[in-house]
Amino acid sequence: MSTVPWWSALLPGCCSSEHKRWAFKATKPIEKQPSFSDISTSNSMLSPEDLSVSLVGSNLHVFTLAELKLATKSFSMGNFLGEGGFGPVFKGFIDEKVKPGLKAQAVAVKLLDLDGGQGHKEWLAEVLVLGRFRHPHLVKLIGYCCEDEQRLLVYEFMPKGSLENHLFKRFFESLSWLTRLKISIGAAKGLAFLHDTDKPVIYRDFKASNILLDSDYKAKLSDFGLAKDGPAGDETHITTRVMGTHGYAAPEYIMTGHLTAKSDVYSFGVVMLELLTGRRCVDKARPFREQNLAEWARPCLNDPRKLGRIMDPSLDGQYSTAGAQKVAALVHQCLSQSPKRRPHMSAVVATLEPLLELEDLPVAPFVYVAPADDDDGGDELTDSMRDNGPRRGRRQKLRSPSEGKLSDAALCREVGNRLRRNLASQQKPMDA
Ligand SMILES: Nc1ncnc2c1ncn2[C@@H]1O[C@H](COP(=O)(O)OP(=O)(O)OP(=O)(O)O)[C@@H](O)[C@H]1O
Ligand SMILES: [Mg+2]
Repeated sequence: MSTVPWWSALLPGCCSSEHKRWAFKATKPIEKQPSFSDISTSNSMLSPEDLSVSLVGSNLHVFTLAELKLATKSFSMGNFLGEGGFGPVFKGFIDEKVKPGLKAQAVAVKLLDLDGGQGHKEWLAEVLVLGRFRHPHLVKLIGYCCEDEQRLLVYEFMPKGSLENHLFKRFFESLSWLTRLKISIGAAKGLAFLHDTDKPVIYRDFKASNILLDSDYKAKLSDFGLAKDGPAGDETHITTRVMGTHGYAAPEYIMTGHLTAKSDVYSFGVVMLELLTGRRCVDKARPFREQNLAEWARPCLNDPRKLGRIMDPSLDGQYSTAGAQKVAALVHQCLSQSPKRRPHMSAVVATLEPLLELEDLPVAPFVYVAPADDDDGGDELTDSMRDNGPRRGRRQKLRSPSEGKLSDAALCREVGNRLRRNLASQQKPMDA
């Protein structure tokens, strides 16, 4: 049975020698190698025309660089959203003025860093996977740009950014228990969809930073640069270079390179554990025995008496005990050393969904946050507090009252400003 992925026919043209400098590093991946290096060996180049022909029917827009500069105010730092292994991401706005026929909407434009570790293959995988699928829990790719060396991706804008930011960045208020459940169910549905299509896809990079949130905390998967076709026919696995992110990748995959959909299930278990505990999957700042989250938490997952010890303190006890126990037992299964004992993602969805209905949420004491002297906004709720926050008419305690008062726009600006300050010294100015 052939292990050649469905998009391989397109790849023999992807890496000309002039594009060698795109190959390949990644900020966090385990091995600094191209994710699709086993697909392409040819040096000829897939033309943008070939690509648009292959994507007929996908509804993707082909943008010029000039149009995307217009959409993002020349990639101004005021529009900067963040940066990952592929390159920087900018907020933009597209409408008829940018390109006739476009629906007016906010977008996120991801720009390949030509001096970075990823390249054309990751870009192409993203275009081909997201061009092929549409699903409520996969981020929508609106279009792309392929001009000379430049490679860009244009996505729907996800107003609440990544789950990683909400879990681990200081200036975001703590997510409520129900919001955490909702996010895990959404992300689980995205993975289940990929695993259950006619030609299953293994996502390979399931992690908190790749789960994006809309204004209502609906989760969508992003970043398909490492995605692979799953085993076909009688195959039990595919063999591939080990790629992914430390702490999230399944142990058997790291050891053998054998990849199955169950590798994604392990990564899902790790993210669920981050949602339960509020801790990062790997944290070198903690005592040695606590650095690897899965190892540290595993003994408590199947023991209701110990579970409280590992729950995120910022939940302040405001969670369903029965729900947390069910989630913990599910996480225990997902993190099983044996891939066969891990559940299918469709079973994960079926286990998680009923937990939203559990009624045993403790009633929190009313917390009055006195307005500061320079407070001009009274005690009105911010968007983010409304979406994430008070349930059943109760006000939720904030991590920090002053930070909780930031609007979404202010939050984005604040994040951008902080990241910009960090990056300013390293980043060369973008060509306007
Ligand atoms: N569609 C989008 N809408 C809003 N923000 C986005 C969107 N896509 C990415 N971002 C933001 O841009 C930042 C960088 O995202 P990116 O996916 O490039 O990197 P990452 O996930 O942090 O790292 P990695 O390269 O390991 O995946 C993130 O902080 C994310 O919140
Ligand atoms: Mg990402």
